Amino acid sequence: MKLKTLLVTSLLTASAMAADNNVTQPLTVKQEGVKYIKMLGGALKTQLKAHMKKDPTGLDALAFCTGSADNITKEVNAKLPDYAKVRRTALKIRNNSVNTPDATDKKVMQAYESSIAAKTFTPKNIKVVQEGDVTRVYKPLIVKKVCLKCHGSNLDPKIADALKSAYPEDKAIGFKEGDLRGVIVAEIKKH
Ligand code: HEC
Repeated sequence: MKLKTLLVTSLLTASAMAADNNVTQPLTVKQEGVKYIKMLGGALKTQLKAHMKKDPTGLDALAFCTGSADNITKEVNAKLPDYAKVRRTALKIRNNSVNTPDATDKKVMQAYESSIAAKTFTPKNIKVVQEGDVTRVYKPLIVKKVCLKCHGSNLDPKIADALKSAYPEDKAIGFKEGDLRGVIVAEIKKH
């Protein structure tokens, strides 16, 4: 009984201290990047879920992604401080007009792919890259079952047609569960 009380007390103290830290300590650049990544990831995920629920074939969600993924990205960026931005990219790109990776993006994603192949990967593996006065924070996006409707191999013909007409050069198909689909990257300038 005593031991239990002691444990509970120390747990409470630990969480009180953690809460205290949140209030008094400014976010590290990495934490700030993760916060912006979650804003974009969360906004897209909420919408995708709602549209998939409304129409399980995925056609409605596809129309939504085609028409609005970029707008949502812009909306989220409008809420960030001037020194920060957040975006998605991938090695195999669907929307090559906005999501094309640069050399640093490619390097980071290749490193993620190697760790997936070597089975040392964990989804919580956030990578931080310093480039001049910009810090980049990367979060990997792993293919889940729900992603396969529009990024997998056996696409519903209606989905395949809609994809072909919207993205004639679509490279973002043929994925399987557990593959790296891409990353969300936050870029934070020294300020
Ligand atoms: C209903 C169809 C659909 C589903 C389901 C879907 N996507 Fe996509 N995805 C798209 C479309 C359409 C685009 C291009 C949107 C744009 O213009 O940015 C896209 C683009 C992306 C991009 C941006 C890079 C690129 O290739 O342009 C990433 C990253 C991505 N999807 C990851 C995922 C992940 C991870 C899942 C599962 C959690 C998922 N998608 C599920 C349709 C879908």
